[in-house]
Amino acid sequence: MIEPIVRGDLVIRPWHLEDAEALSDAIEQSLDHLRPWMPWTAAEPLRIGERRALIIRWTEAQRIRGDLIFGMFAGDVVVGGCGLHHRIGPAALEIGYWVHAAHLRRGYASTGAGALTSVAFTLPEIDAVEIHHDSANKASEGVPRKLGYAMVGERLKPAETPNETGVQIVWRMHRTEWPDTA
Ligand SMILES: CC(C)(COP(=O)(O)OP(=O)(O)OC[C@H]1O[C@@H](n2cnc3c(N)ncnc32)[C@H](O)[C@@H]1OP(=O)(O)O)[C@@H](O)C(=O)NCCC(=O)NCCS
Repeated sequence: MIEPIVRGDLVIRPWHLEDAEALSDAIEQSLDHLRPWMPWTAAEPLRIGERRALIIRWTEAQRIRGDLIFGMFAGDVVVGGCGLHHRIGPAALEIGYWVHAAHLRRGYASTGAGALTSVAFTLPEIDAVEIHHDSANKASEGVPRKLGYAMVGERLKPAETPNETGVQIVWRMHRTEWPDTA
């Protein structure tokens, strides 16, 4: 059971089944802004039953120490989502994030990614956390930069969305360089 993380007006916590409608609404309201960069939007809009099934899968993944998928809330309002993904090897986690189109530039993505960096380093096996973004995604680039991640290189990844170039920028934070804990 992961406790909510509170940073100022932002609460970061795993999604609950009861969040399904609010999550669907937030995504629908943000689709034009998310489609250029988030491959999963190709399947949107999901039906409500599909959304609930997804949240059940996320809860199960958390239980078996798989990916950790969080909602970001300001009060009762869904302002975005973020996650820790096991897709870059056993000793590292990759952070992903998105923010509702009506709640941009309030520090939510960087606050959420900072909180998740701290969560990642509570896991003893994790030595590094990475953030990857398309080289054309300048808004996303500001997040690891603001948090003090180091830009460590580029990797090729076939473009999956309309705006992706196929070149991703990789940013990394090592455990020894991260000042904060969760
Ligand atoms: C990328 C995204 C998550 C940023 O969310 P956000 O909450 O607005 O970001 P923050 O407020 O934490 O911004 C952190 C820094 O990023 C930079 N930044 C954010 N948006 C920017 C923009 N539109 N243009 C230029 N720089 C931007 C700024 O340096 C900012 O710091 P500052 O506000 O102190 O100057 C949001 O734009 C989004 O959801 N984009 C679509 C989905 C996406 O691209 N996800 C990431 C995929 S890798």
